[in-house]
Amino acid sequence: MKKTFALLLAAIMMLALLTACGGGDKPADTTPPADTSAPADTGSDAAPEAPAAGGNIGVCIYKFDDAFMTTYRNALQEILEGKGYQVTVVDGNNDQAKQNEQINTFITQGVDALIINPVMTSAADTIIATVKSAGIPTVLINREPTADQMAAYDKLVYVGALAAQSGTMQGELILDTPNQGDINGDGKISYIMIQGDPENIDAQLRTEYSVKALTDAGKEVEQLNLTRGDWDREKGQTICANDLAQFGDKIEVVFCNNDDMAIGALQAIQSAGRKVNEDIYLVGVDALDAALNEVKAGNMTGTVLNDAVGQATGAVAEMEKLLGGATYASGSQSVYIDYVKVTPDNVGDFMK
Ligand code: GAL
Repeated sequence: MKKTFALLLAAIMMLALLTACGGGDKPADTTPPADTSAPADTGSDAAPEAPAAGGNIGVCIYKFDDAFMTTYRNALQEILEGKGYQVTVVDGNNDQAKQNEQINTFITQGVDALIINPVMTSAADTIIATVKSAGIPTVLINREPTADQMAAYDKLVYVGALAAQSGTMQGELILDTPNQGDINGDGKISYIMIQGDPENIDAQLRTEYSVKALTDAGKEVEQLNLTRGDWDREKGQTICANDLAQFGDKIEVVFCNNDDMAIGALQAIQSAGRKVNEDIYLVGVDALDAALNEVKAGNMTGTVLNDAVGQATGAVAEMEKLLGGATYASGSQSVYIDYVKVTPDNVGDFMK
């Protein structure tokens, strides 16, 4: 009798233990894989309600010293911890070799899943091969590899946003101004482009599509300068100050691939005695709090919401699908969260 009771107790304890740590190794039949055959364009709608699992999640961020990725990583950590996961977030210091080591360390520690913001998009093959050989479900964020690269591993998904869309919206913000960007009325829009890290597809496509929106609308454009500012506020300020010194009133539009550089550019514009929306236009991307304040105050023409919370929510939802046993067919391994145009008219909707 005593023995039967002990056995029963052991069985109950075992069951409780299994339920408590069901995050990473739940048999596929208890949580059916989500349907990934549907077009992967929403990211957050089809996530199964996963129980707070207590699994261990490793998060690699390309560098902590990046304004947008700071908002993003804080959102990610809050969502994961809110769901009961043990989360370790590490700073790659913009050094791919260091991030590779961090990934290996997480694998050695036996994490249940990884969320990785690669330092270099060009390192995607190595990262994917590493997580594949360890069999770790992985969500890549913010820096999108090609579909072919991702096809190498079916427990891998990318969550991000379509960079071209944000570029197009920046161009539209200029087309929406009273003189459609042609402040001096000479028939062409003269601009400078302050670019992010050009290795990054966000920088490449925002640069291309912001101008394409103007030319597609039949506008003549003149690029006075294009300079890489690596997403950095101080570089944005220096570049804009140099360009203002060199080109003066010729500059009608300052395109910045992100808000942090735009905030820097604004400082240069103000020191040069220029006035945004009167004698110069300024647009960024991300909708950082600082930029929202400047849009509201009329010191930025507009920005584009890069939805950090939406992307973090989507990344966790996809991670939970992977933990539930989902696999992804090649060609449907990217999930995109929409950008949103932010102008003085709707800026209040985005302010906390
Ligand atoms: C972009 C964002 C930039 C920067 C970059 C890092 O999406 O707009 O501000 O964070 O990602 O890759």
